Amino acid sequence: MFYLAGTWSGWYNEKEETALEKELVIVLDFGGQYNQLIARRVRECNVYCEVHPHTLSLEKIREMNPKGIIFTGGPNSAYGEDSPSYDKEIFELGIPILGICYGSQLMAHLLGGQVETAPVSEYGKTEVKVDKSSLLFGDISESTICWMSHTDYIAKAPAGFTVSATTPVCPVAAMELPEKNLYATQFHPEVMHTQEGMKMLSNFVYKVCNCSGDWKMSSFVEDTIKSVREKVGSGKVLCALSGGVDSSVAAVLLSKAIGKQLTCVFVDQGLLRKNEGDEVEAVFGPDGPYDLNFIRVNCQQRFYEKLAGITEPEKKRKIIGEEFIRVFEEEAKKIGAVDFLVQGTIYPDVIESGLGKSAVIKSHHNVGGLPDCVDFKEIIEPLRLLFKDEVRNAGRELGIPEYLVSRQPFPGPGLGIRIVGEVTEEKVRIVQDADAIYREEIANAGIEGLGQYFAALTNMRSVGVMGDERTYDYAVALRAVNTTDFMTAECSEIPFEVLQKVMNRIINEVKGVNRVMYDLTSKPPGTIEFE
Ligand code: XMP
Repeated sequence: MFYLAGTWSGWYNEKEETALEKELVIVLDFGGQYNQLIARRVRECNVYCEVHPHTLSLEKIREMNPKGIIFTGGPNSAYGEDSPSYDKEIFELGIPILGICYGSQLMAHLLGGQVETAPVSEYGKTEVKVDKSSLLFGDISESTICWMSHTDYIAKAPAGFTVSATTPVCPVAAMELPEKNLYATQFHPEVMHTQEGMKMLSNFVYKVCNCSGDWKMSSFVEDTIKSVREKVGSGKVLCALSGGVDSSVAAVLLSKAIGKQLTCVFVDQGLLRKNEGDEVEAVFGPDGPYDLNFIRVNCQQRFYEKLAGITEPEKKRKIIGEEFIRVFEEEAKKIGAVDFLVQGTIYPDVIESGLGKSAVIKSHHNVGGLPDCVDFKEIIEPLRLLFKDEVRNAGRELGIPEYLVSRQPFPGPGLGIRIVGEVTEEKVRIVQDADAIYREEIANAGIEGLGQYFAALTNMRSVGVMGDERTYDYAVALRAVNTTDFMTAECSEIPFEVLQKVMNRIINEVKGVNRVMYDLTSKPPGTIEFE
């Protein structure tokens, strides 16, 4: 399947042909959940970074001439027979290497250290004591909170290595061999729970790899526009526009690249937020500021019929995803000879759908795969390697108005995954009304900076009393999380009086609800959406 890894690797190919001018850091993927997150953190340091499988040859690495290499985490044991590994010669290339979690254990294992099952697994925020004389930790607090997630550990560092961090469980929470520019951390500097993780990565990139920081989001936008133009030629392109940040940025990016060769189809599948269909039409339709071919398809009943009686979350996602594709197919046929389909898939969608070697958490509908009978030549996913805030920055770079760019994310399957259990028209109405009240009150209270918040409908009905009558109605769950990467998230602290006001209004104004709850769960272990 073609996905615009070409936007980035198109540039990379260019680098292969001509001299490599821009600095590059490579992430070697050993199957961890956070491989792209590491790349994105490095890009945040203004150094271009891309992820490659651990099968990338040594020869290729030499050719690419990176300033640094990072080994990711992974689910295996470094000493296991079938575990992913790498040629030991990589440590002789003279290129700085940072091993993270499994990557650190692999480095230790390959260089003669001792890796074994830890007496106790460490999971979560852990206090780590660091040696401030290390280049990685020079400006880090001596005792710092880091994110640990491991069952194995390095019991003994390889000969010549210095231990540069410890925890009560880990005798080697970090180690290094500065003469060879080899560094390793058992914890994950890339996740936000590691409070000074960004500083550590920045130290690696700037102090160990000696990067100067020559990468910016504008490069991504320019390169993507160029590579889309080349790819599409004079072809016709159909864009699945949902009105959310991702597909809006993808649509504007495409329209800048190929103008009227692009037709945007907006499917109102009856699972959108209250009034959203009309709002999207107002922005992207003929009266809006963009020069696009815009088609709105109203197919609410068709989706409700397909979803009737279905309660299993993955099945619901698959149905919604496939029905989407069908609708596009039909529209494409009407338009005639469509060559490409554009989707606003972003990186967390990809990783959580288990396309790498990580475990499947959810199959996000826009990466659920295409049915065999699809008529498009190829799929274009220009944002596939970006995280949400990188997508917003790309949007700003494109001059998209702030109110659109900073819009809350809304999942592809829409309210379908915010209604636990069977989806019905009535439940959609309930969750739309509750959510609209919630959003209105958050705005009225002037609360800013919330990551993502919404109302969901639980599948729980319980007994209540209203007036003198017994009720047996649904419970609405309010959710609000703060997150920067959508891979991890914390529950937001919304003032109690605001929550109470929302609760009062929902109970009074939304028929069918007699209980309102506030979801405190962080991610992990929860996910942001309910299904
Ligand atoms: P979860 O629930 O996986 O959500 O913690 C992480 C982020 O992804 C959004 N999300 C989706 N976005 N298609 C999308 O385009 C999907 O199928 C999908 N499922 C979840 C979710 O709203 C949150 O921002």
